Amino acid sequence: MKDRKQLSVSAIKDGTVIDHIPAKSLFKVIDILGLDHIEKMMTFGTNLESKKLGLKGIMKLSEVFFAEDDLNRIALVAPDVKVNIIRDYEVVEKRLVEIPEKVEGIVKCVNPVCITNNQEIRTKFELVSRNPVGLKCHYCEKITDANNMVIISSS
Ligand code: CTP
Ligand code: ZN
Repeated sequence: MKDRKQLSVSAIKDGTVIDHIPAKSLFKVIDILGLDHIEKMMTFGTNLESKKLGLKGIMKLSEVFFAEDDLNRIALVAPDVKVNIIRDYEVVEKRLVEIPEKVEGIVKCVNPVCITNNQEIRTKFELVSRNPVGLKCHYCEKITDANNMVIISSS
């Protein structure tokens, strides 16, 4: 018998299912992927019970597919997601994400006097440590880490 506590969200025909998103990062993932600009059927679940994560989020994006580089950007806030590519109702590919070596325009520099915080200049970082994440600013060389990471909204 179907578990009555299970959330039923329909399967999708074609698209991308991003699973195991930490609940606190769901809206950041939406921002990073710019989903508010995509007019496709999407369902988001958050604060769902997960044995592994405590609380997790999931998103089902119908007819939406991403380039690997774009998807990898979400690793900054959700390093352990599982990405499922769906074609004709079947999971045809499972992917993991990895923080890119160069990060441009997603994260704010922690340094208040950095030029990127005072002029219209897109931020640019080099990945200097992966776990915990450390990003070195191309302009001021300060390190922005996981604790002070602020995501720049894409909207
Ligand atoms: N899914 C979907 N539509 C489909 C096929 C799958 O929305 N047509 C979703 C499932 O609901 C699930 C995810 O894609 O959230 C992965 O599907 P599947 O690999 O079948 O599930 P699991 O075996 O539970 O995956 P895993 O344990 O690898 O997370
Ligand atoms: Zn800087």
